[in-house]
Amino acid sequence: MSETLAIADTVLARYGLTEDPFSLSPDPRFLYLTNQHKAALAKLRYIMERRQGFAVLYGDVGHGKSTLIRRLFGIYKRQEAYEAVLVTNPDYPTALQLLKRLTDEFDLPRRPSRLDQMQELEGHLISRFANNRNVLILIDEAQMMRGEQFELIRQITNFESDEHKLVQIVLAGQNNLRNKLKLKRALVSRAAAVATLDPLTPEETGEMISFRLSVAGRHDPLFTPDALSFIYEFSKGVPREAIKACMSALTIGGLMEADLITAEVVRESIE
Ligand SMILES: Nc1ncnc2c1ncn2[C@@H]1O[C@H](COP(=O)(O)OP(=O)(O)OP(=O)(O)O)[C@@H](O)[C@H]1O
Ligand SMILES: [Mg+2]
Repeated sequence: MSETLAIADTVLARYGLTEDPFSLSPDPRFLYLTNQHKAALAKLRYIMERRQGFAVLYGDVGHGKSTLIRRLFGIYKRQEAYEAVLVTNPDYPTALQLLKRLTDEFDLPRRPSRLDQMQELEGHLISRFANNRNVLILIDEAQMMRGEQFELIRQITNFESDEHKLVQIVLAGQNNLRNKLKLKRALVSRAAAVATLDPLTPEETGEMISFRLSVAGRHDPLFTPDALSFIYEFSKGVPREAIKACMSALTIGGLMEADLITAEVVRESIE
């Protein structure tokens, strides 16, 4: 199955869809909130809103971290009481480069030394605090970060007033972030919350598929229960794998002029 496959408009129209329900982009509109997603969001929101400093979101490949972190970002980005930045791809050779990426996000001047650059950031955080604005830094794909950059994050989480953290940071990353953080005890011991995204259950997989279909305009069932069981078996509850299987099944269903997506259609498409 190719990741670049897009569902043709004629196929969408056949199934009463106004947009692609199975796009692989991390669009939070399509995020189905299972209990574990609700719990993860609640934990992360608590850390942000109560100025608890630092939290981590783990999950394996394709489990929905980027989509969840975008949902979180969407909650705060337009609120006057917050200044939120979202950093994706934190793939920099040095800590100073990562720091500059952060200070660029806040439109701060660039300084040659790390110390001066940190002072720019601290000054910004103090002034935001004085104006009652809570600064949030969300870093996706944090497993890309290396060595010293975790120490930089630790130093940033250190900026505090008498009672409050001046900035709240969330790192989201694949499971090797967990291994990297194990070695950074000084940072990981500061995490006020750790949330993990696990694979979906069979029931949740079916509900997620129906939810995505309804966001895209189709409210009547389209996949038969057998088809949904098949997709669960194939994907093992990993959202991205399930979505890819649905995308292929829909395309093949269109070619076969099937009214419903049956297990037969799914089998055909996977083969
Ligand atoms: N709970 C969910 N409801 C609906 N769609 C979901 C859910 N979780 C994940 N998806 C979808 O699965 C796909 C993969 O999700 P996402 O890109 O967020 O995963 P990820 O954990 O960031 O993966 P990676 O580790 O590769 O970066 C996206 O299309 C996303 O919309
Ligand atoms: Mg991701």
